[in-house]
Amino acid sequence: MLNTNALFPSENEIPAEYQFNGPVEQQEYLIDGKIKTWTGSFQEVYSPVCVGKENQFTPKRLGKYPLLTEKESLEALDAAVKCYENGRGAWPTLAVKERIRCLEYFVNTMKPLRGEMVNLIMWEIGKSLEDAEKEFDRTIDYINDTIEEVKKLDRESSRFHMHQGILAQIRRGPLGVVLCMGPFNYPLNETFCTLIPALIMGNTLIIKPPKKGVLLYRPLLAAFQDCFPAGVVNVIYGEGAVTSGTLMKSGKIDVLAFIGSSKVANELKKLHPYPNRLRSVLGLESKNPAIILPDADLDLTVKECLLGALSFNGQRCTALKMIFVHNKIKDRFLEQFSDAVDKVKYGAPWMKGIMNTPLPDMNKVAYMQQLVDDALAKGARIINKNGGQSQGTFYFPTVLYPVNDTMRIYHEEQFGPVIPVLSYTNIDAPIDYITQSPYGQQASIFGIDPQALASMIDPLINQVCRININSQCQRGPDNYPFCGRKNSAEGTLSVFDALRCFSIRTLVAAKKTPLNENILSSILQDRRSNFLRTDYIF
Ligand code: G3H
Repeated sequence: MLNTNALFPSENEIPAEYQFNGPVEQQEYLIDGKIKTWTGSFQEVYSPVCVGKENQFTPKRLGKYPLLTEKESLEALDAAVKCYENGRGAWPTLAVKERIRCLEYFVNTMKPLRGEMVNLIMWEIGKSLEDAEKEFDRTIDYINDTIEEVKKLDRESSRFHMHQGILAQIRRGPLGVVLCMGPFNYPLNETFCTLIPALIMGNTLIIKPPKKGVLLYRPLLAAFQDCFPAGVVNVIYGEGAVTSGTLMKSGKIDVLAFIGSSKVANELKKLHPYPNRLRSVLGLESKNPAIILPDADLDLTVKECLLGALSFNGQRCTALKMIFVHNKIKDRFLEQFSDAVDKVKYGAPWMKGIMNTPLPDMNKVAYMQQLVDDALAKGARIINKNGGQSQGTFYFPTVLYPVNDTMRIYHEEQFGPVIPVLSYTNIDAPIDYITQSPYGQQASIFGIDPQALASMIDPLINQVCRININSQCQRGPDNYPFCGRKNSAEGTLSVFDALRCFSIRTLVAAKKTPLNENILSSILQDRRSNFLRTDYIF
């Protein structure tokens, strides 16, 4: 039986330091440098964490946020378009070192908000305190690393090139107006992984936070307002179809930066009337498999598969969502793994060492149950003792075996704590699964024989974008490229690559004649241009 006390406390059992600092009755949104007050309709926000007593638990109410309409969406768009001013606006033409200064000011304004924002992340999406803190700190590191990377890019771009008698200086210029939408599982970090590079490269922005993980943007509104010129950053809230749909239909969005499902990404892209104008930077679904070879170190494999499949309840695009284990070691693996799954620490997000926490809502629990029921009806069993149990918004991690291609869990991205396991004798089985999959993000391979591992790397490396050896799949470190083939992504994100996703190479060129040399020297010496210059940003 699940320990409901650990999961769902009564109000007075919540330790004082982790009480929710709310409710947050948010009415504000940010357009054209003004924090406006909304008086229309609102979306109520509830936590995945239920509170109550004696088995009467209800999701805790956290507050509300505005449901803006087409009108406000278009006002935000006008502000961003006006500020970009066809690339002639103050922000896109601002000297790089001035944009860096704004970002530095912003990161220093954001740091003191850590406690408030971590509390909001923890309560709103049910992420463990430890992971919510990591999300905040990783985002600060990402901003600082991006600033350093921009300096490097600027230094490299400051030199002149000379080919076939033509002198040129090549830099990267902004693309225009970016619509920036992050996911609920990393509402801060994954939004900022596109927002920060887009900003620093000189684009103007409309941010539409995800459905869940919204309230944490409230303390940021004043920070955006203080640190950037009016219209550079605009923040709107509401139904995606109304807000983002209206923006895309306008044809004035130059870049769609979206982390979420390919279905929504495709719907948004199709709304844009000028597909050639639109650039998309997308992080989408995946079905990353673990392949366990017969000689794998089982202790290590179990530890990594556990982390890979269950960190933040498996709600990571990089989570291990399918496990292939060799027939020879399948019994030992299943025993050890299901034992480890049953021992996973679950409870309220502020509890120490917690791994599994409540899911966003009852629909998610119902979806987990549908996947399990479907697999059971088609011949799978629940292997771990506590599997299949649920209570309110919590679903206990469930190991299913043997899974086959008739089951929904074989094909669908579960994005939750249900772990399908298949056994194989011929290595072609997992390789075929990856080859036929509509997704192509990452894979993990477990084994100790270098030859066997090498013979897996070669057929897989052109199917996915990262192969992890004896390690779970993951995005980080953020300096490494994060991308995917097929339906898993468009564009590459890393500190280095994201700067390139949100900019385009652009150059000033001139035939090398005495006249042109004099003109170029004069522009450089008298610092007449923000683009054409050779100064060094320290
Ligand atoms: O949800 C997808 C995230 O980008 C995964 O990042 O591997 O660092 O948890 P992570």
